[in-house]
Amino acid sequence: MFARINGHSLGLGKFNPDTMERAQSLQTGLPFNSFDSDGQITHPEVHLLARRLAAHGLLEYRLGSSFKGDNHVVIEPQAPNYWPQMPPLGDSDVLALSRFAYLRRRGHDMVLESPRASALFRIHDPQIVTAIARLSAPQQISNLRRRSDFVGRELLALLMDCQILIKIDPAREHGHRLDEGDNHLAFWDFHDLLFHARSTEGRHANPSGGTYPYVGLIPPLPAVRPSWSGEKIDLRRFSDGDSPPVSPAARLLRDRHSTRNFDDQRPITLTELSQFLDGTARVQARWSGKLEELADDGPEFEYATRPYPGGGAAYELELYLVVNKCEGMARGFYHYDAGEHALVPIAVRTQEVDAQLTGSQFAMGTPAPPQILIIIAARFGRISWKYSSIAYALILKDAGVLLQTLYLMATSMGLGACAIGSVNINLFAKMTGLEFHVEGPVGQLAIGRARPTAAD
Ligand SMILES: Cc1cc2nc3c(=O)[nH]c(=O)nc-3n(C[C@H](O)[C@H](O)[C@H](O)COP(=O)(O)O)c2cc1C
Repeated sequence: MFARINGHSLGLGKFNPDTMERAQSLQTGLPFNSFDSDGQITHPEVHLLARRLAAHGLLEYRLGSSFKGDNHVVIEPQAPNYWPQMPPLGDSDVLALSRFAYLRRRGHDMVLESPRASALFRIHDPQIVTAIARLSAPQQISNLRRRSDFVGRELLALLMDCQILIKIDPAREHGHRLDEGDNHLAFWDFHDLLFHARSTEGRHANPSGGTYPYVGLIPPLPAVRPSWSGEKIDLRRFSDGDSPPVSPAARLLRDRHSTRNFDDQRPITLTELSQFLDGTARVQARWSGKLEELADDGPEFEYATRPYPGGGAAYELELYLVVNKCEGMARGFYHYDAGEHALVPIAVRTQEVDAQLTGSQFAMGTPAPPQILIIIAARFGRISWKYSSIAYALILKDAGVLLQTLYLMATSMGLGACAIGSVNINLFAKMTGLEFHVEGPVGQLAIGRARPTAAD
């Protein structure tokens, strides 16, 4: 059996004729209880097929009184492998909406989403929207059940599974961010977590990257901004683009360019990699002190000095290396310990290394993967412990600064580099075992020895 998606075929495996027959009803709706009854798998092959489709995010899950059309709620998976779960809920349990949950119009639908959720809920019944809005304040299940607009335990459990609803401990509840149960989550402002989860890959099903959505609708903007009216001061009198660079820095900037094709006959060496990291990312000094802007009882704050500037001297960015080809070093996944100037291997599956390299190859549109893919990851809490509203924006700015630092060092060492705009936060979380809101990728750069060009 194959699924056909946008002209691509996806093999689903071999199934017996009975399963093939039942699979047809997936077009209109296959009741869960026809293959899975209260967690007991009653039809293993149909279950296997459903799980395989779900692994690729190809199933939607409808809740309604009938499967013929009056769907009150449709669950759309946002991350691969989403499978609806209904954690047990007792009458005495108290539920509330997560502070990351939000409701918005999408086309003609109302969707209930959260950057924490692996699925979104398309809600067709305004009564359900009203009933869910009531959960902005904590509600006990027994009280909700007494109401005529009770949405049912199943929907509440499904929303809880997606962390759109959270269980509240009434003894602890004080409306504080910490109620959501994780110090690292408390650090995040709503808009920042949403921005992070939606502007990266892995946790949403929206189109991503260069999709040219406005071709034929809106013309592209010009490459250079049209001049303001007014009398110009012509700077070409003082410096001309054709004159020799005025300094080594100006030469370096002029020489820098993106390299996407690498010389795999002569890969980058471990010595070069060590020098590259030493010059760009190594911790040069550490010290700590009281925070002047806080009262005397403020905590000690630890600082480090590194070769590039960083917002608040927080230095929240970490380098992880996916090594494909490096002389003197095994293929694999490594963390650069910037304090010790050491590379520490992290055990991951070969398929995950392959997936990272293939992703970067795809982003660069090249026939071969890079020799090394550097993933720039942020320890988000290091910045957001201090900054409100601007934390994530600062992190992205820091990532830009670091990218240029890496580009310039590669240029000065005769190596090739290319920044990559996309990152997969789900894959990184799987490889490191770190939750996506604790530490995660915000930038990438491919490096290696450039393939000689005709001019060389
Ligand atoms: C933030 C950022 C993201 C980028 N993403 C990609 C990418 O995904 N794929 C790619 O081939 N090049 C990428 N590039 C490289 C740009 O395409 C390149 O810098 C631009 O075309 C200018 O060319 P130059 O770097 O050779 O001067 C990226 C550059 C930056 C700064």
